[in-house]
Amino acid sequence: MRIVAVYPGSFDPPTNGHLDIIERSSRMFAKVIVAVARNIRKDSMFTSAERVRMLRGLTSQWENVEVDSFNGLLVDYARKKEARVLVRGLRAISDFEYEFQMAHMNKKLAPEIDTIMLMTGERHSYISSNIVKEIAMFGGRIDDLVPPGVKDFVFKKMKGAGRK
Ligand code: PNS
Repeated sequence: MRIVAVYPGSFDPPTNGHLDIIERSSRMFAKVIVAVARNIRKDSMFTSAERVRMLRGLTSQWENVEVDSFNGLLVDYARKKEARVLVRGLRAISDFEYEFQMAHMNKKLAPEIDTIMLMTGERHSYISSNIVKEIAMFGGRIDDLVPPGVKDFVFKKMKGAGRK
């Protein structure tokens, strides 16, 4: 069976941890759609179009990976794309409560769709987009946390915002 998976997230910005999940899920599913979404709990630094542009550049080597964005409910988007699986990365136990709630709520809304959690690679388990932005804002090194293209994008954005 050719299973289509959606990997949704804010990706604000994409990190090495996200890339690890994309690479591993591309080996498990016929197609992986990396879907940039709005998280109403977070303010974003990058526009949706900027995040899509960064992710397309980072994933071009995987033929079965597409990058897209959506507004509205994740399950509505997944249904439109005929996806059977939602992929999420789990870094630590602190992520679990939120992921547990989302997975159950999405299952209630769309019983035919399953969420699978991949443990983020050990060396990426402490990386988050928020911490990347905070370190960059105070002039710290983010080289090992994000791909090189993303690093340039982050600093350019901060310069534009007059923060660095
Ligand atoms: O990377 P994030 O910020 O943890 O991703 C969260 C995201 C974007 C996947 C989540 O907020 C989401 O699914 N947003 C779309 C709206 C939706 O379906 N909300 C109900 C989730 S149960």
